[in-house]
Amino acid sequence: MSDDDMSDEIEARLPEEDSFEPPEEFVDQANYTDSSIYERFESDWPECWEEAATLLDWYDVHDQVLDTSDEPFYEWFTGGSLNACYECVDRHLPERGDELAIQWEGENGEKRQFTYEDLHEEVNAVAAALQDIGVGEDDVVSVYMPMLPELPIVMLACARIGAPHNVVFAGFSSDALATRMENSDSEYLVTVDGYLRRGELLDHESKVDDALASVEHDVEAVVLGRREPWSGEGPHGYRELVDGHRGTEVEPVERDSEDMLFLMYTSGTTGTPKGVKHTTGGYLSYVAWTAHAVLDLTPEDTYWCAADIGWITGHSYIVYGPLALGTTTVMYEGAPDHPDKDRLWEMVERYMVDVFYTAPTAVRAFMKWGTDYPESHDLSSLRLLGTVGEPINPRAWKWYYRYIGGESCPVVDTWWQTETGGMMVTTLPGIGEMKPGSAGLPLPGIDARVVTGEGEEVDDGAGYLTVHKPWPGMLRTVYGDDERYIEEYWSEYSDPDEDEWIYFPEDGAKVDDDGYITVLGRVDDVVNVSGHRLGTMELESAVVGVEGVAEAAVVGGSHDVKGEAVYVYVIAEEDADAGDELRGEIVEAVEGEIGPFARPEEVVFTPDLPKTRSGKIMRRLLEDVASGEPLGDTSTLRNPDVVEDIRGQVE
Ligand code: WTA
Repeated sequence: MSDDDMSDEIEARLPEEDSFEPPEEFVDQANYTDSSIYERFESDWPECWEEAATLLDWYDVHDQVLDTSDEPFYEWFTGGSLNACYECVDRHLPERGDELAIQWEGENGEKRQFTYEDLHEEVNAVAAALQDIGVGEDDVVSVYMPMLPELPIVMLACARIGAPHNVVFAGFSSDALATRMENSDSEYLVTVDGYLRRGELLDHESKVDDALASVEHDVEAVVLGRREPWSGEGPHGYRELVDGHRGTEVEPVERDSEDMLFLMYTSGTTGTPKGVKHTTGGYLSYVAWTAHAVLDLTPEDTYWCAADIGWITGHSYIVYGPLALGTTTVMYEGAPDHPDKDRLWEMVERYMVDVFYTAPTAVRAFMKWGTDYPESHDLSSLRLLGTVGEPINPRAWKWYYRYIGGESCPVVDTWWQTETGGMMVTTLPGIGEMKPGSAGLPLPGIDARVVTGEGEEVDDGAGYLTVHKPWPGMLRTVYGDDERYIEEYWSEYSDPDEDEWIYFPEDGAKVDDDGYITVLGRVDDVVNVSGHRLGTMELESAVVGVEGVAEAAVVGGSHDVKGEAVYVYVIAEEDADAGDELRGEIVEAVEGEIGPFARPEEVVFTPDLPKTRSGKIMRRLLEDVASGEPLGDTSTLRNPDVVEDIRGQVE
C-alpha cells in the first residue's frame, strides 16, 4: 500500500513499537497464560495431545494417541469413537440448549438465529431427509452453497449420519463443481437456486444444471429455493423435503476416530485440485483445542470469523471449532461494503462480538476505506483479533491493532493450511509477545522449523518452512491417491531410509533469534489472491483452451489489497487478432472454468515468453514484471529482449 492511502494524522497515531506484550485485561481472563505449556507439550509429546481430545465427549476413549506404524499415514486417537455432530450440538443441550449457536445475518438485513435446541431440530430433520434420498454412511455429499445457515446445518447433518461432506465454495464455476464431484465419487448434492451479493440475486441454478449435465454418474440433488417455493423440476426441493421430516430424531452414527469427516479440495502446483482428507477424531480435537487456545473461545463468547465456509477457515473456525466449544458463531451472507463500508463494524456493535477473525486482505481494504467507518461504531466489546490466509504487513497489523482493537486486544496472526486442518504457527494470545508481521512461535506440540534447501535448520534467517512431527489435525491423504500424498507433502525433506518424515507445506519463511517465524508465501506455483489459493496450472489450462491462444503463462503479481493478483501472458496464434475481444474471451474462460474470484488482473499479449536455453518459461521474471520489481538475472535467457518488451506493456 502506498503511503498516501493513509493520512499523516492516522499514520502518526499508529504505534511505533516492533513488539507488544499481551494487554493485561486480556491476560487476566485468558484460557492459557503460563508459558510452561511449551515445555510441557514438548516433554510429553505425543500424549500432550490428550489435552485436545479431552475437550470432546467420546463414546469410546482411544487406546493409542498416535499410531506411527505406517508413516507418513499417521493415525490419531486410534480405538476412539465419536460423532462430530453430537460434539457440536447434542452435548450442549443440557446446559446451553437455549443459548445461541448461530447468529446469522443476510446481506439485506434479514436475521436468523439458532439456539443449540433449534440447531438440533434442524440438523435432525436434514439428517433424516438425507437418509430419505438414500445417503448412507460413508457416501460423499457435495454441498455447493453460499453463506446461508443451511450450509453449516447440512454439514452437521452429514456428520451426524457419517456421510463425509465435500463443500465447494459457491463462487466456484460449474466446471470446478463437476470436477470435485467426479473426483470424490459424490452422488449427492445439496445446493441453492440463487444468492444475494451486493443487492443482486445471483443465479446459481444454471451453474448447478451445467455441472450436473457434465458429471458422468447419476446425482441425487436437493435444491434450496430462495425464490420460494422451489419450482425446478427433477431435484428435490430442500424445504419440502426437510419439512417432511421435522420432529424426527436421527441417532448420531458412532464414527471411528480415523473415519473421514470431510473432503476439501485445494490447489497445488501440478494437475487437478487435491481432495484433502480430514478425519473425525484428530481434526475435531485439533480445531476445538486451537479455538480454545488461540482464539481463546469459551461458551460465553460471541465470536465472528468473517470468512466463507466454502474454504477451510470457515470449516474449522466458523463451524467445527466454535460449535464444539459451545460458542455463539456469527455468520454473514454478503459483501463487507454493502450497503456501506461500515457493515462489519455495525454488526460487531449490534451483536457485541468479542473475538473477530479475518484475512489480511480485508484489513488492507479497511485501511483504504479509512478510519471514519470503524470510529463511528462502538467496538469496545472486542477483546481479541486474528488474521489468517496470507502474510500481514506490519502497517496493516498496527492499523488493525490500533483502529479496530483500540490497542487493548491481542492480534493473533495464524499460519496454517487446508492440509493442516487448524492453526500451526501463531502466538498464544495470553502468553506470547506479538511482533507485527511475524506469525510467532509454532504452537505447543508443533515442531515447525525453517530449513535451507538442503534441509539444514536455520536459526536466524530465511529458508523453507517444514514440520518435523505429525499433529492431530493433519490431512490423512489425498483422496484416492496415496502416492500423490507422499509426493506432494513428504518427498522434499524426508528420508524414508532413516525413517525420518518431514512435512513440507511449500511455503518460504524466515525465523528470528527468538524463534519467531514469518511466513513469506508460497514457493510453488500457487497464487494467493485475497487469501484464496489458485494453481497457475489450472489457470493456464483455462487460458490455452481459448481458441487463438498458442501459449500462455500465468503468474501472481503483488497487489495492494488482494495480496497477489493473477497476471496472464499470452502468445496468440499467428492468424488470431490479439486484441480486446480475445482478451475478453480469456477472462471469460478463467471465470467459467474456475470462478469470478480468479479473474485476471491483466492479460498481456506478447510475441514470446521469457525462456531459458532449455526452453523452460522463467516464471520468476514474469512475477517480477507483474509486481513492478527490478528484474533478477536475465543472463540465462534465450531471449532477454522479450522481458523489456513485456514490461513496457504492463507499465
Ligand atoms: C498462506 C488457509 C502467511 C500460506 C488457512 C499457506 C499464510 C496458504 C498465513 C494456505 C499467515 C496462510 N501468514 N501466509 N498467517 N496463513 N498463509 O490452504 O502460503 O487456503 O500455505 O489455508 O496460505 O492456504 P489455505
